[in-house]
Amino acid sequence: MENKKNISIIGFMASGKSTIGKELADRLSYGFVDTDELIEEKEGRSIKSMFETEGEGYFRDAESTAVEEVCAMEGLVVSTGGGAVLRSQNVQMLRKNSTVVWLRANRETILENLRRSEDVRPLMKKGEQEIKVDNMLFERAPKYKNAAHVIVDVDGKNVEDIVFEILFNL
Ligand code: S3P
Repeated sequence: MENKKNISIIGFMASGKSTIGKELADRLSYGFVDTDELIEEKEGRSIKSMFETEGEGYFRDAESTAVEEVCAMEGLVVSTGGGAVLRSQNVQMLRKNSTVVWLRANRETILENLRRSEDVRPLMKKGEQEIKVDNMLFERAPKYKNAAHVIVDVDGKNVEDIVFEILFNL
């Protein structure tokens, strides 16, 4: 069988990872997995509930397990959670087993998408978004950069243009 190395999408919350990942998977005839959804399915409950009951560490362990699982497969576009790059073991696995694409969004794009989104994000409560996005971007941007094989700027672009740019740079 033809070897289809996974493509992993990384990036900050609300930068479009799932939307772009699904479209990219369609174009390539790859499967699509969202690690957040995988975790919720396995746990039978929401990420919010995991954060509230057991805390962030518990979720991060589940996230590392999910990353390990998808890295053992091929032919997938994998959309990761925004914090998947916080653990170096995740980054190592993703880089070894997939082409890692960072969807780089600036603070305005992220804030606008967060405003429009109906997803519940435990780390991004309403009312404190601006300062949190600034602080978290400052901490995480170097991690996304170090993890990425390919960087695609998403600000002001539509889904089709972003997918095309990824395909062009793989
Ligand atoms: C998180 C991002 C979320 C989810 C969890 C933690 C983060 O995923 O994994 O709430 O630490 O940035 P999205 O990036 O899909 O929102």
